[in-house]
Amino acid sequence: MAFLDQLIVAFDRGLRVLITPPQFRRPNPASQYMNVELSKTEKIHAGRLMRINHTGEICAQALYQGQALTARSTHTRDALKHAALEEIDHLAWCEERIKELGGRVSYLNPLWYLGAFSMGVVAGIAGDGWNLAFLKETEKQVENHLNSHLQKLAMEDLKTRAIVQVMRDDEKNHAELAQSLGAYEFPRWLKEAMKLSSSVMTKTVYWV
Ligand SMILES: [Fe+2]
Ligand SMILES: [Fe+2]
Repeated sequence: MAFLDQLIVAFDRGLRVLITPPQFRRPNPASQYMNVELSKTEKIHAGRLMRINHTGEICAQALYQGQALTARSTHTRDALKHAALEEIDHLAWCEERIKELGGRVSYLNPLWYLGAFSMGVVAGIAGDGWNLAFLKETEKQVENHLNSHLQKLAMEDLKTRAIVQVMRDDEKNHAELAQSLGAYEFPRWLKEAMKLSSSVMTKTVYWV
């Protein structure tokens, strides 16, 4: 496919991610648990944490699309597209749980999408080893971030916890996939810069 055609397809996918409700392929892990009545504060807090995770998944879609657009090898591009499909489940589960908790998604999602897409494009241009290094480090940081949410969520909020746990395990697999495909290792300063930018995103999205 010509680059311009791929760009149009990526733009179309971006609009769909931001506008249309995502369809999951795997059942929502929360569905196996009964609804437990949470306090108002717990519900609001959980809704905001899931808003952060939802925005994280919007960014994951954007990153994957951007990276796939400029990835050099077909092998890497196909792996990225496959992983992006799996991330759609996360996006849909988060959206469903946010609704159940009476919350809302971030108003700034189009902005985060654009930023993450641009980062993905740059990572792809840097070459497959660095592209995969970016993916690996992102997934590792998301895994740690989801572990921190498991500490913050109420123990009785089994539905939200079930979603976060499956997402955490999937992200771990994505990092391992990137490693197996030949990811390089980012220098420490770059990992710290990524942590800083994701902390700006999470703190903002908790409120907006
Ligand atoms: Fe994800
Ligand atoms: Fe992932």
